[in-house]
Amino acid sequence: MKKIVLNAKDRSYDIYCGSNIYGQIGGYFDLAADKICIITDSNVAPLYLRKIKNAVNADVYDYVFEAGESSKTIDTCAKIYNFLAQKGFSKTDILIALGGGVCGDITGFVASTYLRGIRYYGIPTTLLAQVDSSIGGKCGVDISGGKNLVGSIYQPFGVLIDTLFLNTLDEGVFNDGMAEVIKYGFIYDKSLYQKCVEDTLGNLSDIIFRCVQIKKEIVEKDEFDGGLRMILNFGHTIGHAIEKLGGYEKHTHGSAVSIGMAYAAKLSEITYSKTGLFDSVAGSLKKLNLPVETDYSYTDIAQAVLNDKKNRDGLLNFILLKEIGKAEIYKINTVKVADFIRQAF
Ligand code: GLY
Repeated sequence: MKKIVLNAKDRSYDIYCGSNIYGQIGGYFDLAADKICIITDSNVAPLYLRKIKNAVNADVYDYVFEAGESSKTIDTCAKIYNFLAQKGFSKTDILIALGGGVCGDITGFVASTYLRGIRYYGIPTTLLAQVDSSIGGKCGVDISGGKNLVGSIYQPFGVLIDTLFLNTLDEGVFNDGMAEVIKYGFIYDKSLYQKCVEDTLGNLSDIIFRCVQIKKEIVEKDEFDGGLRMILNFGHTIGHAIEKLGGYEKHTHGSAVSIGMAYAAKLSEITYSKTGLFDSVAGSLKKLNLPVETDYSYTDIAQAVLNDKKNRDGLLNFILLKEIGKAEIYKINTVKVADFIRQAF
């Protein structure tokens, strides 16, 4: 078992990484409270809920929502607020997010708003949530106007990452997480990239630990997402456009980001004259069984990028690679975005 401490502005918290440790959660964190509510989804609950309930010492409740992105709404949050209020949850009580990215987002957002903020802990069960979304406090919900448009940055009080959960992930969900894993190699750490290419499964717990270390370093330097933290969006500009064009059903987040990273690598190669960069990025993604091409036209992609409600101030922050292991924020005037993207097609 390894520990990382993340020093955020409002608090520092421990992130534990190990195998088969979730049943001892009460030994890792100070969970002293009258009441604890474990928030989880309909896929995870039958597998892991009971053991966690037995591991905490308080009046323990659970709230199980229907698995899937369609639950990431204000409506689900409102149901949880009412559930907590009915059960008499107070400011000193605790929430635990047991699940993947959707669960972490919902729980974090509820924790940041119920009674203007209560404690919450994360037990991420997907690879993607373990290496990215459970760390750093970004949480939120989708509204009809767009994905993740309502939310907050509210740090958890602790995170427990257990690689045991990965045994029950289906292959597609695991590969999705690998897109975010190798992203850290592309943007920040060439040796992590090499490890992923050489033997991902043999190195998995070291790889996860390194990703968490990198996320900690980035969040500590730019918790509120005004600069460095944006490099975590490598591949996400085109990736989000692809997800949107597929109606958020045709492409998973990881596969869309994988395609986005391949196109962003092509644009990096052209912008910085780095021959071979695209081949290195696309080759490693293919090795991880991730896609690198889309059938959408560059005009469709550019339109979707420009329609994103987050890009409204006339400049788009596009993340490019100077080389493997080094990312840069490249600002493009929105009138030039379509021409810029066209170069990769
Ligand atoms: N998932 C990107 C971030 O935490 O900033």
